[in-house]
Amino acid sequence: MAPHSPSASPAVGPVVWIVMVAAFGGFLFGFDTAVINGAVAPIRAEFELGALMSGFSVSSALLGCVIGAFSGGVISDRVGRQKAMLLAASLFFFSAVGCALVLGVHDLIFWRLVGGIGVGMASVIAPAYIAEVSPSAWRGRLGSLFQLAIVTGIFMAAISNALFANLAGGAAEQLWFGLDAWRWMFLSEAAPALIYGLLALSIPESPRYLVSRGKNDAAARILTEVVGLSGSAAVKTKIEDIQRTINLEARQKLRDLFVNGKLMPIVWVGIGLAVFQQFVGINVIFYYSTTLWQAVGIAEDQALLVQVITTCVNILATIVGILIVDKVGRRIPLVVGSAVMAAGLLTMAVAFSQAVESTATNEFGDVETVVSLPEPWGVVALVSANIFVLGFGATWGPFMWLMLGEMFPNRIRAVALGVASAFNWGSNFLISTLFPQMAELSLVFAYGFYGVSALASLFFVLKYVPETKGREIEEMQERAHSKV
Ligand code: GLC
Repeated sequence: MAPHSPSASPAVGPVVWIVMVAAFGGFLFGFDTAVINGAVAPIRAEFELGALMSGFSVSSALLGCVIGAFSGGVISDRVGRQKAMLLAASLFFFSAVGCALVLGVHDLIFWRLVGGIGVGMASVIAPAYIAEVSPSAWRGRLGSLFQLAIVTGIFMAAISNALFANLAGGAAEQLWFGLDAWRWMFLSEAAPALIYGLLALSIPESPRYLVSRGKNDAAARILTEVVGLSGSAAVKTKIEDIQRTINLEARQKLRDLFVNGKLMPIVWVGIGLAVFQQFVGINVIFYYSTTLWQAVGIAEDQALLVQVITTCVNILATIVGILIVDKVGRRIPLVVGSAVMAAGLLTMAVAFSQAVESTATNEFGDVETVVSLPEPWGVVALVSANIFVLGFGATWGPFMWLMLGEMFPNRIRAVALGVASAFNWGSNFLISTLFPQMAELSLVFAYGFYGVSALASLFFVLKYVPETKGREIEEMQERAHSKV
């Protein structure tokens, strides 16, 4: 048998299992953010909501995500990663049941906010935990499983929404126990929430958290049994490494992300990655698909099929990302991803410049502008949208979350990750709230803007983003204090 290196072990077993459990938080993240798509129209009809309130019932969850991301870092630093996962699982569970039983729009906004806090928490706990238990040689692949779980969650929500709507003969129709189909869409999330909570009970606490709490023996056990380090010398060295980085930055709080009144360069880089990941407009594709595909001449009932195709492209692209990340690293794929995304988005802008506009009255009596594309521009838009999703899914989608988990030094990881993640959710909120207005102004402007953001992200990566492949997480320490 080949000798083990201290940082990597070929014993795949336990670490893959516990990483999958942690990544399951991503499934709930994806499911929760996507489930609203199928429910928003019947909710709007049932509670007689105007555009503003129905918009807010969608975006309130994103505000919850900002709160969850921000507090999740601090909470998981206090109580540990595992207990924080249990808390997130409970939030998902209560939100699922709460949303299913709402009596009015205010309850709905409240329970969506609760679920959003769970999503935000999962978005910081899972990447941190995964980076902390993964051997550096596989950290890329294991960290990218989080995004795979997110996109699978988005996919499953689309499927389950369609299933309930079909079973009931419409999302607003009654299904079982006198509950409408849209209520079942929400309720179905209770099952994965429960599973996530039970699974979280079965996994160990992260060794880095244990060392930071002085529980070195427990940390040593996990490093041997889970991370797969062999020999007491290797374990001792690893614990000393962790201890050293922790001591270096003992008792850091939010304010210690600042040095001499300035935010640490590495924190800026994390925030930049988080913001660019949203400014390329990925969620416009996932949240507003119907408008987009109708514009290219696809009927409403066919839009679901196209959405399934786009979601599958996203899943397949994520798998490609997982396969390459530990071989070629993060930087090169990010640069290539930016270029592919920019090409896709700018082509979409060109396609939409060929659009023909007309007006129509929707089912709520509002007059809407309908955009349609003459051939071949409809096909061009469809293909370039999927090229964009491919570029995102294989690179920026998984690698942003992966890098947020691995790029910060130990003592600030959870807090810095929380801040960067909150920026990601804040940008998501901004982009998805502004899209309808931007689209009204001009779709060329909207996609042109995302395309230019993708180009800017390319230069950002080239100039500022460090390569983190194969480096021990403790090594990130030095980077944090030097200029990146
Ligand atoms: C990333 C983004 C998230 C998006 C998803 C789509 O996880 O952070 O906002 O919905 O990718 O694949």
